[in-house]
Amino acid sequence: MNKIVVEHLKYRYPLTEKLALDDLSFEVEAGQFIGLVGQNLAGKSTLCQALTGLVPHFYHGGYGGKVIVDGLEVGKSDINDIIQKVGIVFQNPFTQVTGSKLTVYEEIAFGLENMGVPRKEMIERIDHALDLLDIEPYKDRAPFDLSGGQMQRMAIAGIIAMRPQIIVLDEPTSQLDPQGSEEVFRAIQSLSRQGMTVIMAEHKMEKVAQYSDRILLLHEGRLIDDDKPEKVFSRDDLAAYGVAAPVYTQVCKALQAKPAAEPSYPATLDKAYEALAGDAS
Ligand SMILES: Nc1ncnc2c1ncn2[C@@H]1O[C@H](COP(=O)(O)OP(=O)(O)OP(=O)(O)O)[C@@H](O)[C@H]1O
Ligand SMILES: [Mg+2]
Repeated sequence: MNKIVVEHLKYRYPLTEKLALDDLSFEVEAGQFIGLVGQNLAGKSTLCQALTGLVPHFYHGGYGGKVIVDGLEVGKSDINDIIQKVGIVFQNPFTQVTGSKLTVYEEIAFGLENMGVPRKEMIERIDHALDLLDIEPYKDRAPFDLSGGQMQRMAIAGIIAMRPQIIVLDEPTSQLDPQGSEEVFRAIQSLSRQGMTVIMAEHKMEKVAQYSDRILLLHEGRLIDDDKPEKVFSRDDLAAYGVAAPVYTQVCKALQAKPAAEPSYPATLDKAYEALAGDAS
């Protein structure tokens, strides 16, 4: 069975008229990396919240259709069961820190303590998460003494320690400098390589194109396209949805450089290089 099944999902925030999510249907296989793109207010964050149960358990309002994560129907399940299946990482690492823990280690332990994980297993899980996110050297530091990239990796470690099989990231690097962003993207890529199912809302299209197996293009709450990055980013009407293709796609399109057998332009540096080098020879 697919890891995520979304069927005719509709959602309207309380006291609003417009649907923030308008009849979305899609499925995600285990281990896939899905990029969520769309202009501001397209519905990316709302979809992230619907995949993790914040919609409708925290944000009420009008809800219809179904979201099923790892066999669990989100709308009808207890939030404590949902967080063991799917974790969420938000834009701003500062808002995800408890503020009550003295060290990075204790901060990562927080979710596990709430879940009642036995001490020995807790230590194993924390050590593994510290290692995976490459933050072991900072484990005794105060959480607020970390750089933005380190802090966001600590937030991800806290989620990973809870062992969800799906992780949803809502623009995880939008508040970070280029170095911090790179650290976080590398960490996410390594989680994906370990078989985790990843859903990432992101405005940095070069990164989305590089990592994603599939792109979901949202506009005004509707799903406009669901396809491979090179297909979605080669659309002639992309600008109408407020999305700019990766620079590699833009350059290749301007130069009409694409592999002879392909209907679409490259979306990553490697593929663009191949297409352009092939063109030159
Ligand atoms: N807490 C809220 N209460 C009411 N309406 C909301 C709330 N959050 C979002 N919306 C509305 O839901 C729609 C989708 O917004 P959402 O924040 O999901 O978009 P987004 O794609 O994440 O945008 P951005 O790129 O700016 O983060 C918008 O019309 C927005 O005004
Ligand atoms: Mg958003």
